[in-house]
Amino acid sequence: MANDAIVAEKLVKRYITKKRVGLFRNLTERVDALRGVSFRVRAGEVVGLLGPNGAGKTTTIKILSTLLLPDSGHASVLGHDVVREAQSVRRVIGIMLTVEKGFYGRLTGRENLVYFGSLYGMEMGELRRRVDYLLDLVGLKELGGSDRLYEEYSLGMKARLALARALLKDPPVLLLDEPTLGLDPPSARRIRTLVRDLATRDGKTVLYTSHNMFEVEFVCDRVILINRGEVVAEGTPEELKSKLPKVRTLELHLERVPEGLADEIRSYGLEVREPMQTPEGLFVLRVLARRPEEVLDDLVRVVTSRGVEIARLKIEEPTLEDVFVYFTERGA
Ligand SMILES: Nc1ncnc2c1ncn2[C@@H]1O[C@H](COP(=O)(O)OP(=O)(O)OP(=O)(O)O)[C@@H](O)[C@H]1O
Ligand SMILES: [Mg+2]
Repeated sequence: MANDAIVAEKLVKRYITKKRVGLFRNLTERVDALRGVSFRVRAGEVVGLLGPNGAGKTTTIKILSTLLLPDSGHASVLGHDVVREAQSVRRVIGIMLTVEKGFYGRLTGRENLVYFGSLYGMEMGELRRRVDYLLDLVGLKELGGSDRLYEEYSLGMKARLALARALLKDPPVLLLDEPTLGLDPPSARRIRTLVRDLATRDGKTVLYTSHNMFEVEFVCDRVILINRGEVVAEGTPEELKSKLPKVRTLELHLERVPEGLADEIRSYGLEVREPMQTPEGLFVLRVLARRPEEVLDDLVRVVTSRGVEIARLKIEEPTLEDVFVYFTERGA
């Protein structure tokens, strides 16, 4: 479609690696990192690429960033093919990778950004203004990091500088690989809000990865879930939750769990998990039900008839984490 900013079609990538066996022998091993990944990201959309460790997220981001060639399949960014028109792709993207390379330890954050901006051919006056604006935007100024040496940066400062570099040329498309990895909650929140604003306010297209489900719900319009190199689900968080089997969890916090209680509840045809103890010494009993509202009365009656007090009762809504677990553990 015309307004697709990112298109991936049947991307395949294999890594050939050597695995050490014994002292002197290496075995050649083939890793199927991507087994035909296809998806589309519309212009102005923020899409989260999710999946377990090793699912192929970074590999996908690297292919779209022109840092890695696919073995087969096609991908394009704003209509430019990532293999045949790599230069054009590089002009329209900002990249942030987990393992940041290329920053100079003996230069300050500001000097690093000016250096990269001049590599990109930016005019010096405009570049200095842009760098100053970005140091402020990502919060490096208030941390006192703008004019400190990069080698003295904390992890959070490095992440902020990497994001500033991705934004240097004000690119319409951002490819961010775990931009909030290892950040403290306020720093992560700042980056989250920034990414959201970049899409909502400036119309940028963002494809990004994260293992933080709360963050993904906040930032992303849509989610693409990959597992073992394949797309296993995609949609808005709400759409994905509605695809889960319609079982919800009733959580009962009890002062004690008498012998036979769980079995009695099971005799009503409900699934009951092993009770767990909270730090406060209460027992949490989880009961799975298709229509929790309908079994609530019976459940309360069974528990209280044994003289057990219910300290707390809640009906849990499915979370994005449930979606993640459901789609990535099926067939795993
Ligand atoms: N340079 C490489 N050489 C060999 N195998 C690799 C290389 N890079 C990645 N892999 C393998 O390819 C698969 C996909 O890796 P990838 O880094 O894309 O996963 P990921 O989804 O980003 O995981 P994570 O959540 O841990 O970052 C994994 O099995 C990984 O071990
Ligand atoms: Mg990764």
